[in-house]
Order: sequence, then C-alpha cells, then structure tokens
Amino acid sequence: MSVTRGTIALCLALAAAGCRTAPPAAAPAAAPAWAYPRSAPVAADPGDPDEAVGVPGSPVRIARRDFEGWFTAPDWFPAAHAPPPAVVTRGVPPDVYACGYCHTPGGQGRPENAALAGLPATYIRSTLADMASGERRSAAPQPDVPAARMARIAAHASAADIDAAAEYFAHERLGTRVVVHEAARVPRLRVYAMLYGYDPAGGDEPLDGRLLEVASDIVRHERHDERVLYDLYVPPGSLARGATLVRDGTVRAPACATCHGADLRGAAVGPPLAGRFGSYLLRQLLAFRAGTRAGGHAAPMQAVVAGLSFEDLVAASAYAASLPP
Ligand code: HEC
Ligand code: HEC
Repeated sequence: MSVTRGTIALCLALAAAGCRTAPPAAAPAAAPAWAYPRSAPVAADPGDPDEAVGVPGSPVRIARRDFEGWFTAPDWFPAAHAPPPAVVTRGVPPDVYACGYCHTPGGQGRPENAALAGLPATYIRSTLADMASGERRSAAPQPDVPAARMARIAAHASAADIDAAAEYFAHERLGTRVVVHEAARVPRLRVYAMLYGYDPAGGDEPLDGRLLEVASDIVRHERHDERVLYDLYVPPGSLARGATLVRDGTVRAPACATCHGADLRGAAVGPPLAGRFGSYLLRQLLAFRAGTRAGGHAAPMQAVVAGLSFEDLVAASAYAASLPP
C-alpha cells in the first residue's frame, strides 16, 4: 500500500505510541475520543499563586504555585499513609517525575492516570516493564500525552526506585473515589485539561452510550485533593449488565470474577478492579481490544475482550468502579 505524506506525519506524531500504516484485517472499532478528554490548560483554580489554600478536612495549607511542578507531591493527609519513598514525593530529575504528583502521595490517583493503592507489587513491576518496552500503550485515537509521560517515567526509573514505589503503593489502601450514576442525560460538561468538569453555564446533554467521569469539585481536583469524589455517568442498565459479566460471564467471555476475585478485589491471576476509576478501566479494556496493551501479561485479557461488545466494556467498567475498593 502507498504511504501518503499525511500518514507519515501521523506516524511521526504517533511515534511514541508506535504506528501501523495497515491495520490488521479484523481491526476492532477505534477507541472513541470522548474516553480521552483533552483541552488547552484551564485555570480552574484562579487566584494569587502565593496564597496558601486548603481542602476540606485537612489542616494543611499549600500555596497555589506548589500544585505546579513535576518534582513535588502536594500532601493534604500525611497521616493517612505510610511515609512515602523519595521517588513518590520528589522523583528523580530530569525524567522521573514524582509519582505522587500525578497519582497523589497516598496512591489514591486521579481519573486521568490511575489509582495505585492496593495494586500488588509484582503487578506494578510487570506493568511498568511493559510500558517501558512499549508492550503497554494507549489506544487513544490521538497522541496520549499522559500515557506517553508515564511510559517515559517507567523507562527511566531505576529498578530500586520502582521496587520502593511498588512496595509502598501495594501496602496503601484505596478509599472511595467514584460515585456511579446511571442516566440517559447528564449535566452539561466541559473539559478541564484532561478531565471532565461541570459546565458552570448549566444545562444538560444526552449521554449517548458514553461513560463519562466528572470531577465533583474541579477546584479540589486541581488542588490534588486525594479525597475528592468523581461522578461516573453510565447508560441505564449498565450496572446490572456489568454484574452479570463479572459473576456469570457469557458463552463468549469468562466471568471476570474467575481471575479478579469474587468482589473484584484482586486474586492470584488478575489485579484488583473494585472502586477504581471507571474511565481508567474502560481505557484499559479499549487498549486490550485494540492490541496496544499486548504481550504475555495481556494475553488473557485480549481473549476476554474479544468476546465482549462495546456496551459490555462500558458496563463492566461501571460495575467494577461501583464496588467498594
Ligand atoms: C505525569 C503524571 C504521572 C507520573 C508523575 C507518574 N505516573 Fe504512573 N500513570 C500515569 C498515567 C497517565 C497512567 C495511565 C496510563 C494508561 O492510561 O495506560 C499511569 C499508570 C500507572 C500505572 C498502571 C496502573 C494500573 O492499574 O495498571 C502504574 C503502576 C504507575 N502509573 C506507576 C507509577 C510510578 C511508580 C510512578 C513514579 C515512579 C508514576 N507512575 C508516575 C501518569 C503518571
Ligand atoms: C483469564 C483471566 C482473566 C479474566 C477472565 C479476566 N481478566 Fe482482566 N486481567 C487479567 C490479567 C492477568 C490482567 C493483568 C494484565 C496485565 O498485566 O497487563 C488483567 C487486567 C485487567 C484490567 C486492567 C487493570 C489495570 O489496573 O490496568 C482490566 C480493566 C480488566 N482486567 C478487566 C476485566 C474484566 C472487566 C473482565 C471480565 C469481563 C476480566 N478482566 C476478566 C486476567 C483476567
């Protein structure tokens, strides 16, 4: 096949994510752009950068300017987690940003990245190795800047720092972060950088089969509050459908519980899914389906998603997110 200049430009743009000019014969439907919200940076928490601000339930005060910077990890609740290793709070310049900046110091995470608290250390090590080798990539239809940053961190972090971070996050406990709503229509949303927030202008819009995760309070999100909740909107009927997929499976897909545990809190084979961000879980299922999350560790999941419809992926993600972590 001929490779056009446009394709080459696209390949260059996608170089970090790898590029195929000829999709496989039975290519699955592309991952939808709404699963990867992106906008120019938004000043969601405007005000004096030197002003020390707070979040509910914390006596700590932090200056607004300290929420910017890859080698810092604003910590509102230092007593709620063990003392983190330096790679989590400060990172290792220039390439290894502080894990806690994006994933929060206690590993509670944010929807545009992932909750790390309670993931098994062996899984953290192996999935970071897959990111570093390029076997685990995003299925986003456009370059996925957050996932590419994560891959660069995985490739540059030392084995000792990865071990320290993996042991630390594995021993932390995930709190409740997600509230699931089944709805045909949702409040009107807008994109704040890499996440949905409520549109201050009000109004509503049809959900249209999407799964949308929304900061309940965009200012607390912006301040890296690891206790702020996220509203997960999914189509009516998703939770019942997801429960069936998890407990019983279908003729085409084994029950998720077989490998991820009865309550999806993790088992010997599969990592925990319960209470994790629904939009993150869906992006991973889309990556298994697109084959961008591949390699030996992903093989069982690629087989599972091959037997599921898009609605099933949304339903299973919603149900998993709705369970207590
Ligand atoms: C710049 C923000 C950022 C920083 C800093 C960061 N990560 Fe991530 N991390 C991400 C994003 C984004 C993802 C989701 C990638 C995807 O969609 O596949 C992620 C995913 C992960 C996952 C996969 C979770 C799962 O359930 O499979 C692990 C493990 C992880 N990060 C560990 C780390 C560690 C350890 C550090 C510090 C050495 C770190 N991250 C630093 C953004 C970041
Ligand atoms: C045969 C065993 C098996 C079954 C059945 C299974 N999984 Fe998995 N799943 C795994 C394994 C193993 C991994 C880890 C893959 C890796 O390391 O990349 C995984 C990973 C995942 C992930 C990514 C987690 C993360 O933190 O990034 C999601 C999401 C997921 N599975 C959802 C499901 C759902 C939903 C079902 C049911 C529809 C299901 N799985 C059924 C074995 C299974």
